[in-house]
Amino acid sequence: MSNSTTVLCPVCDQSLFLSTEPRRNLNCPDGHRFDAAKQGYFNFLTGRGTNFIEDTGPMVNARENFQNQGHYAPLAKELSASIAGHHPENKLDVLDAGAGTGYYLGEMIASASAAEVDALALDISRYAMRRAAKLPHTLAMVWDVWRRLPSADQSRDVVLNCFAPHNPAEFHRVLRKRGICLVVTAAQDHLQEIRESLGMLGIAENKEASLIEKFGAAGLRHQQSTNLSYAMDLQTSDLFNLAFMGPAGHHLSPEVLRAKTDSLGAQRVNASFGVHIFVREG
Ligand SMILES: C[S@@+](CC[C@H](N)C(=O)[O-])C[C@H]1O[C@@H](n2cnc3c(N)ncnc32)[C@H](O)[C@@H]1O
Ligand SMILES: [Zn+2]
Repeated sequence: MSNSTTVLCPVCDQSLFLSTEPRRNLNCPDGHRFDAAKQGYFNFLTGRGTNFIEDTGPMVNARENFQNQGHYAPLAKELSASIAGHHPENKLDVLDAGAGTGYYLGEMIASASAAEVDALALDISRYAMRRAAKLPHTLAMVWDVWRRLPSADQSRDVVLNCFAPHNPAEFHRVLRKRGICLVVTAAQDHLQEIRESLGMLGIAENKEASLIEKFGAAGLRHQQSTNLSYAMDLQTSDLFNLAFMGPAGHHLSPEVLRAKTDSLGAQRVNASFGVHIFVREG
């Protein structure tokens, strides 16, 4: 049996059909066909190459372990609450651009009261998409969010974009009228107690103003920005995961990092996020 989807063929831009026999695959009317990897995700980047370095298996593990401790649960809760009233009661179509493990998306799906959920998770990391493919109602796809997104025009109520690259023109295209884009950024004081000692990258200043300008130029009106800030009590294993799951994980040696986190010991650390809501105008 084949089911029509709002996912577009990356070769010819026509709608893809999902079938599960003989194995899970997506195919378009022109015969382009994509088989799911055995872990359940689809790789649309095969043969295309990308300029970006994907998060590695150990980095994605670190992210999953950190998130499973619940330290970012208040953020997940805030995001899930933000979408109330922005989708029909019985249906939620959501796209997560740069989804990572799909932690926030998973929480959103779990808390949505909608009977019917259709989720598309995109990330350049295969290791991340292996995790996201396990979420219910979700197609997980290896894809570069700087390219045209493989989702039909006006096919989504919500675009989620947490700590990941922004492509406002494409977010605008795939959103329905009055649909919302939730963008999460790290605030200036996020993890301030440990950033330097654990070799984590600094946070650019004045991000909010340039974000609002960029999204506004693409037809996404800024509705509100909230700062969510709270203290986290972190063990040395949490500190390790936190440093290793971020961009610094591409450069850090796990042994050197482990020695650093052991010598730091347990810490009280400030989490501080900007949660920005943009609405697609007419
Ligand atoms: C800091 S992580 C955030 C992941 C997830 N949103 C979360 O908050 O747990 C950034 C993610 O963006 C992905 N990423 C980076 N560049 C990308 C690109 N050009 N296209 C798609 N994903 C990208 C990385 O692989 C990584 O999973
Ligand atoms: Zn095609």
